[in-house]
Amino acid sequence: MAMQIRPETPADIDAITALTAAAFLHAAHTSHTEQFIINALRAAGQLSLSLVAVDGALLLGHVALSPVTVSDGSTGWYGLGPISVLPSSQGQGVGSQLMRRALTDLQDLGAAGCVLLGDPGYYARFGFAPHPGLVLDGVPPEYFMAMGFGGALPVGTVQYHAAFDAVA
Ligand SMILES: CC(C)(COP(=O)(O)OP(=O)(O)OC[C@H]1O[C@@H](n2cnc3c(N)ncnc32)[C@H](O)[C@@H]1OP(=O)(O)O)[C@@H](O)C(=O)NCCC(=O)NCCS
Repeated sequence: MAMQIRPETPADIDAITALTAAAFLHAAHTSHTEQFIINALRAAGQLSLSLVAVDGALLLGHVALSPVTVSDGSTGWYGLGPISVLPSSQGQGVGSQLMRRALTDLQDLGAAGCVLLGDPGYYARFGFAPHPGLVLDGVPPEYFMAMGFGGALPVGTVQYHAAFDAVA
């Protein structure tokens, strides 16, 4: 597979929507609104990074990153997700390559760190871990993970952009 990872272009948008809906169709812990979240983030100018993994014209994967706020006033923190891989291409390393590229690109942007909500069994391998004191309201603490890029980790409550409430 000759896979390439690059930022999205306008021509990718419909395929990202379809891929995201397909990837989350049978996923656990989903509201099936992930594709709407990505479009709402883009419309709000909050899609800080939107990376696609492509093999020629075929979209294999996608990851979105957007700014989050932390109640202690820390700046430069981003939320990773949604992240999706085409169901028929899962388990072949596409998601891992998207994760690594997203983290590299975030650091290049000067980010302080990254948070995400997900299965620790998957995300620990990239350096994410739950941190007592850095919380997302309403979710089990072991599923909310953070990774700092050098400085101290914030202490407080994290808030994602309102686009995460999008339902259509
Ligand atoms: C999660 C996802 C992005 C991973 O992408 P991928 O290309 O399949 O992942 P990779 O091939 O890089 O890694 C595969 C590894 O991840 C594990 N894995 C995949 N999805 C996982 C999950 N939801 N929870 C725990 N582990 C998971 C696999 O068991 C495999 O583990 P191994 O390397 O120990 O064998 C992809 O499976 C996906 O799109 N899933 C549906 C949507 C989703 O759940 N997104 C994440 C929401 S937090």
